[in-house]
Amino acid sequence: MYYPDEVIEEVRSRNDIVDVVSAYVKLKRSGGNLFGLCPFHSEKSPSFSVSPSKQIYYCFGCGAGGNVISFIMQYENCSFQEALKTLADRAGVALPEQETDQAARQEQSLRSRILEVNKMAAAFYYYQLRSKAGAQGLEYLKGRALSDETIHGFGLGYAGKYSDQLYQYLRGKGVDDQLLRESGLMVFDERRGMLDKFWNRVMFPIMDVNSRVIGFGGRVMGDGKPKYLNSPETRVFDKSRNLYGLNFARRSRARVMIVCEGYMDVISMHQAGFINSVASLGTALTSQHASLLKRYTDEVVLSYDSDGAGIRAALRAIPLLKEAGLRAKVLNLSPWKDPDEFIKANGNEAFQERIDAAEGSFFFELRMAQSRYNMADPESKTAFFREIAGRIAGFEQEVERENYIEAVAQQYHVSFDGLRRMVGTELMKGIYTGQGNAAGGGYALSDRSDEDGYVSTPVRKKDLTADEGPRRSQSMLLTWLTEYPQIFPVVKEYVAVQDYSEGFCREAAALLYDQLEQGPPVPARIISHFTDPEDQKKAAALFNTSEPGLGGEELKKAIRETIRKVTAARQKETGLEGGMDMAALKQMIDRKKKLENLGKLEIPL
Ligand code: CTP
Ligand code: MN
Repeated sequence: MYYPDEVIEEVRSRNDIVDVVSAYVKLKRSGGNLFGLCPFHSEKSPSFSVSPSKQIYYCFGCGAGGNVISFIMQYENCSFQEALKTLADRAGVALPEQETDQAARQEQSLRSRILEVNKMAAAFYYYQLRSKAGAQGLEYLKGRALSDETIHGFGLGYAGKYSDQLYQYLRGKGVDDQLLRESGLMVFDERRGMLDKFWNRVMFPIMDVNSRVIGFGGRVMGDGKPKYLNSPETRVFDKSRNLYGLNFARRSRARVMIVCEGYMDVISMHQAGFINSVASLGTALTSQHASLLKRYTDEVVLSYDSDGAGIRAALRAIPLLKEAGLRAKVLNLSPWKDPDEFIKANGNEAFQERIDAAEGSFFFELRMAQSRYNMADPESKTAFFREIAGRIAGFEQEVERENYIEAVAQQYHVSFDGLRRMVGTELMKGIYTGQGNAAGGGYALSDRSDEDGYVSTPVRKKDLTADEGPRRSQSMLLTWLTEYPQIFPVVKEYVAVQDYSEGFCREAAALLYDQLEQGPPVPARIISHFTDPEDQKKAAALFNTSEPGLGGEELKKAIRETIRKVTAARQKETGLEGGMDMAALKQMIDRKKKLENLGKLEIPL
């Protein structure tokens, strides 16, 4: 489904970013921009900025950024089309009917019809729980120490003793059999026809981040089996992409997010005030879960059952969380099994203490690895430390490696220098075999390897090729061009579109130069040009690179200096690209002359 650029621009420009963002984030003016606490990572002092003139947002803390459409996509965790629709409705813009792609339209409407049926079912279960027939269910939930407020808040319900109550109810509401099958709420029996999937259970509606009911879990009120029954995967229910409780937890603004296994754990924790908790509902944590979490936090505390299965689940989850850029810790609740039992037995404060004492994922992994070694046997013990060294060698930054060496040396009572040498050896292995260890990636050979084979600072290839300097200068120039469009005629004399680094940067520069040729720039429009949220973020970063607080002569000097850097870098590049023909030579001389005059260049600020 594609809308023409003009339509997208119409919707974007009719929704002022400050108005839209203000509905979600408290903003305060400071200079030309507004600042607030970033809704995409937890922080104590505001680094989230909104620019009314550029109509873009950018977080100096986590790098989130984009225009008003990206903001809705990111905040509501929805697609470009959905965000556009939301904003079109908000501003009263009629989106043109999409003629093509009938299949997609049907799919969309099937999804929304399933959501509609789920909502009706949730309401039905909710009222059942409060009816006479639901007394047993209510008693069960109260027996598990849930308050009326909690039961209401999570929309808990009850499915009665007969196996066609929901079916009859929904048929009465005019829902057809085909849709009922797609909803996952019914099972089909050759002999008896359509039957309710859930009966004689307390019901937990499962909601997505936007609080739409996407499925259900039902628990027996006692010891029957299976203990929980869940909706099957449907058009709207994908377990690997949703976390129970996230619709509430995402508003918690806590520093960390607690990830546990079950419905009752989340509910107990929320009731106890720990609303920063979610559950993966008995399935293994996926990389999609991890990136979903990354939208709301930087650190995850895993609270899985303290048995073997729980430990294995944590060990599998840790690398996925790291991969998504999250720090991970592991909660130890033993001898209790899960948060629900722990809180019931020991209360909130004790639970908070356990959270504060949660073990960092690295040491948790080490402790688990240790069980594979016999620490009484010197050989096995050495092998264990070699494994540790290998893991430490996997950290990209030297400071990080040093910190871990120090921490491990302390914790395991081994010599700092000895362990450090071991890490050096592991790093060397990575260099010569060209394959990294634990964290992957190769290393470039460094020259400093002294007699005991210890390599102090092996330099990663990545560090060597990272070419941040010129790119940063280019971004700064692009930022200034959006802020002071009057410098464009001067800048373009020196820096042409081709002078920006190939790829993303040049593409954004081309769009901006185009706009500047025609009038005042509209950076937010450039952002809509990119449909991938990652690209939108990068584009917002491009237009937010200026040094804050620079003005007057200082700023002019900075602009001149930056023009010089960008031109010089380009000069070096073109010099390297192939041979020097006459044209290239002439261009080079011209550039050089111009650069000589740069110092005198008047910047019209
Ligand atoms: N689960 C499931 N089906 C089962 C058992 C468990 O889907 N037969 C899922 C549920 O989401 C459950 C979670 O795995 O919440 C954790 O299971 P478990 O630890 O066995 O249950 P608890 O959460 O402790 O449930 P309760 O406290 O109600 O006994
Ligand atoms: Mn439990």
